[in-house]
Amino acid sequence: MKIKRLALLASGNGTNVQQVTEYFQSNPDSGIVVDCIIYNRKEAYVATRAEKLGVEAFYMNKDDFFGGNRVVDLLRQRQIDYVILAGFLLLIPPSLLKAYPGHIVNIHPALLPKYGGKGMYGNYVHEAVVAACEKETGITIHLVDEEFDHGRVLFQASCSVEPADTAEDVANKVHLLEKEHYPRVIHQFIEGKL
Ligand code: GAR
Repeated sequence: MKIKRLALLASGNGTNVQQVTEYFQSNPDSGIVVDCIIYNRKEAYVATRAEKLGVEAFYMNKDDFFGGNRVVDLLRQRQIDYVILAGFLLLIPPSLLKAYPGHIVNIHPALLPKYGGKGMYGNYVHEAVVAACEKETGITIHLVDEEFDHGRVLFQASCSVEPADTAEDVANKVHLLEKEHYPRVIHQFIEGKL
């Protein structure tokens, strides 16, 4: 069986990167490896996490994504099969979509199509959910296309939002769902089960 190689793309803290990496590091029989991490903000803590996890990390700025072929060239050179977004906040450029059609997965911290689109990321999502007095929220894991938070949904899971919950409370609940489901859903998707 040919090993499937993942590149994880992140912009910030990197808890999802850590969870996905640890999952596949402790499941060598899966035939899936996290090959590298690409991040687009120099100061992002995900770079420190990558070092601790023993995974190579590459800094690429917006120009590297949109200006030339640096990102796609790197992915091809490292024989990457799937691109996994884990708190990655740039729109995916057409060159990358073309190189990996149907092979780019994202996690969004809400029940899409609600609370998606440009500017809706991280805590902004949870603040909007609380402001709208929603009774539930959750996570959506989906394929990536040319629009923000738009491609085919692979999986959703929900959690309650209580009247007294702050955005931080909601974020904590959503992070638990991400931890529970994202690595497993990626695994199932790559195995062709979703
Ligand atoms: C996660 O909650 C992820 O779902 C969200 O950013 C957070 C990153 O946290 N992604 C988006 O909002 C994408 N639109 P992390 O860096 O600790 O994984």
